[in-house]
Amino acid sequence: MTRPLQNRRILLVIGGGIAAYKALDLIRRLRERGAQVRPLLTKGAQEFVTPLAAAALAGERAHTDLFDRAEEADIGHIKLARDADAIVVAPATASLMARMATGDSSDLAATVLLATTLPILIAPAMNVRMWQHPATQRNLATLRGDGVRVVGPNEGAMAEAEFGPGRLAEPAEIADAVETMLAEARPASGFGFLAGRGATAEAASGPLAGRRVLVTSGPTHEPIDPVRYLANRSSGRQGHAIAAAAAAAGATVILVSGPVAIPHPPGVQVVPVETARAMLAAVEAALPADLAIFAAAVGDWRPAETRASKIKKDGSAPAPLALVENPDILATIAGRSAGRPRLVVGFAAETDRVLENARAKIARKGCDLIVANDVSPAGGVMGGTANTVHLVGRDGTVETWPTLDKDEVGRRLIQRFARLLDP
Ligand code: CTP
Repeated sequence: MTRPLQNRRILLVIGGGIAAYKALDLIRRLRERGAQVRPLLTKGAQEFVTPLAAAALAGERAHTDLFDRAEEADIGHIKLARDADAIVVAPATASLMARMATGDSSDLAATVLLATTLPILIAPAMNVRMWQHPATQRNLATLRGDGVRVVGPNEGAMAEAEFGPGRLAEPAEIADAVETMLAEARPASGFGFLAGRGATAEAASGPLAGRRVLVTSGPTHEPIDPVRYLANRSSGRQGHAIAAAAAAAGATVILVSGPVAIPHPPGVQVVPVETARAMLAAVEAALPADLAIFAAAVGDWRPAETRASKIKKDGSAPAPLALVENPDILATIAGRSAGRPRLVVGFAAETDRVLENARAKIARKGCDLIVANDVSPAGGVMGGTANTVHLVGRDGTVETWPTLDKDEVGRRLIQRFARLLDP
């Protein structure tokens, strides 16, 4: 049986952070799937893992520095930048991301990343505050704009006893993202960073060719403590179907998704998040976009406090759970004076008075169109595979569609949005 990454050559750039130890496991995962892995360690990475360990696991020599003369004579940085099918940066530290975003070439890793035309996947890992800092988010947006793929970071407890996005994606997730990237990369004509965007020749000519589309999907998880969270029944099926349809229509699609159990749609850049606040940050980082579709079932409230340790039963009555309101992502983006996507579409999940509530919602949220659906338990929409939607316009007009499979709803919605963008 051929393995999914059989004979694919990966240059693995290991950045300097506590998560560097997971890069060793990543080498194993990639090799299990058939890839040949050539490790390149930054100076910082070598504080956490040794080139010897990386080389032993890879079965290849590990590269370390631009000024290692023996290495330069053996294999120059330009050759390193070309002699692979893809480059994976894991962990991508704040500093490596900054160097990539600004085109800095002060060490071997940065030089190779600047000199390459190969598809690049980064797996960021850093302290949550560093991740959320506007400078890092700016760099992230720049890198995405350059066609760099991103996997993670995940949310969870951090080395510094903080909680939030910043943990390196799991090695298996990174290996999955490598497979997706290589499956979508165009053959080596033109620049790798364009190939990394996942456009296919067929899609490049679709009704959304050249457009950038942002989709939110899935539920959010709002942590109570490290083991408990508040969530809802959204499966992400409708949002994911819309993202898949947009990619098939030729768009560059960024899908910001809460935790779901369904596969990533093909040809789409997925940004996994857990909380509403992380979703808002990821959405803002993904802008600009021509079209933004907010299909996620965002938790309206989160616990006022997330405990760093598991809350224990101590025999007395359970502590009341105080909640605070989450930011409204749709209203925030629709209300932007600068950089508002041309077409902003919201969803309305209602259990009663669907149309009346949807009409009120469109005004309250400031979006251009609402896709309203009845999510009463009897209909089985939440978590199910079919959907009955009503399109509600700003002027209150309503168009009711028959009950359709969510994939078909996704395709029809995308056709409609493409016509609205390009009448
Ligand atoms: N939405 C959002 N951010 C939130 C809440 C909702 O972006 N914090 C978006 C959803 O993605 C959807 C739309 O707003 O596109 C409406 O979501 P819905 O849950 O139906 O409405 P709510 O704003 O939560 O209002 P209510 O709970 O009163 O129905």
